[in-house]
Amino acid sequence: MSESWNRRHVLSLCDFEPWEYDAVLQTANSFREVLSRRTKKVPTLQGQVVTNLFFEPSTRTRSSFELAAKRLSADILNFAAGSSSLTKGETILDTAKTYLAMGTDMMVIRHQEAGVPAAIAAEMDRLNCGVGVLNAGDGQHEHPSQALLDLFTLCTTIDRSQPKLSLLKGKKIAIVGDILHSRVARSNLWSLTASGAEVHLAAPPTLLPAAFAEFVQGTPIDRQLFIHWKLDDAIRDADFVMTLRLQKERMTSHLLPSLREYHREFGITRDRLKICNPHVRVLHPGPTNRGVELSSDVMDDPNMSLVSEQVTNGVAVRMALLYLMGSSR
Ligand code: NCD
Repeated sequence: MSESWNRRHVLSLCDFEPWEYDAVLQTANSFREVLSRRTKKVPTLQGQVVTNLFFEPSTRTRSSFELAAKRLSADILNFAAGSSSLTKGETILDTAKTYLAMGTDMMVIRHQEAGVPAAIAAEMDRLNCGVGVLNAGDGQHEHPSQALLDLFTLCTTIDRSQPKLSLLKGKKIAIVGDILHSRVARSNLWSLTASGAEVHLAAPPTLLPAAFAEFVQGTPIDRQLFIHWKLDDAIRDADFVMTLRLQKERMTSHLLPSLREYHREFGITRDRLKICNPHVRVLHPGPTNRGVELSSDVMDDPNMSLVSEQVTNGVAVRMALLYLMGSSR
């Protein structure tokens, strides 16, 4: 790698350069090796404070950032909105500044509103305190660390020893489900199109962004991105199928006739996957509505499902992000 990492905040993948993706992939691969040792810890961030500021529920993202920070020997503070002074009327910026005053070096932020991590990052820059901010999911906007762990999972499935962005060039990747509400899909669109993969989106029209409704089914939005109203057209010969959770908490009106009908039209089952590449692998960021977006037998089949691998890889990828951001401070 000739370039050196100088990104203090990771808020979106929209302006990520190919070498930055490769830096994350290669660094995560070396941390994955550390995690396979008997002593799974390195002193890299010793003495530094990482604060998890989660204003929205989370299982895997919050825990995996916590474990990543601990494996790097950082001290970790965990903030949970429900039991905090927010309930007494404190503003989000004041909460962030409270953690800054305790010596926080990096903040990992999840919020139900798009733009909150960016607003806190701007305030940290204004204060010139050198704190790095990592977006762990903001509203329907982006979830960069999830897309990077998805990317790492895809690339290491192809080549375990040398994961790099270019391995996905020409691969057919389908993203299926609630794209309208998905920050995971939005971040994945940046990384997957940057890789040169052919990306096919499949969803009922009510679960796609309104701008996509103008595109005739199957036509390319650009050379690499295709829209489908029917599942089979999207997954035919696909190398990877990425499924998304139906985000019922973000649905403001009735967008689906019923979950059973959704499953019939867009649910991923062993039978539906028969038209894919015979080596097809299935991903899901979790949490999963079993039997709705993904059938249990596919989800639990280690020869087809990469779901557990995604969770395992999440720790190494988040170690890589904290390490790289820490090195730019
Ligand atoms: C995703 C999220 O919160 O955006 N989950 C995750 O971080 N693993 C996707 C989801 O909630 O469906």
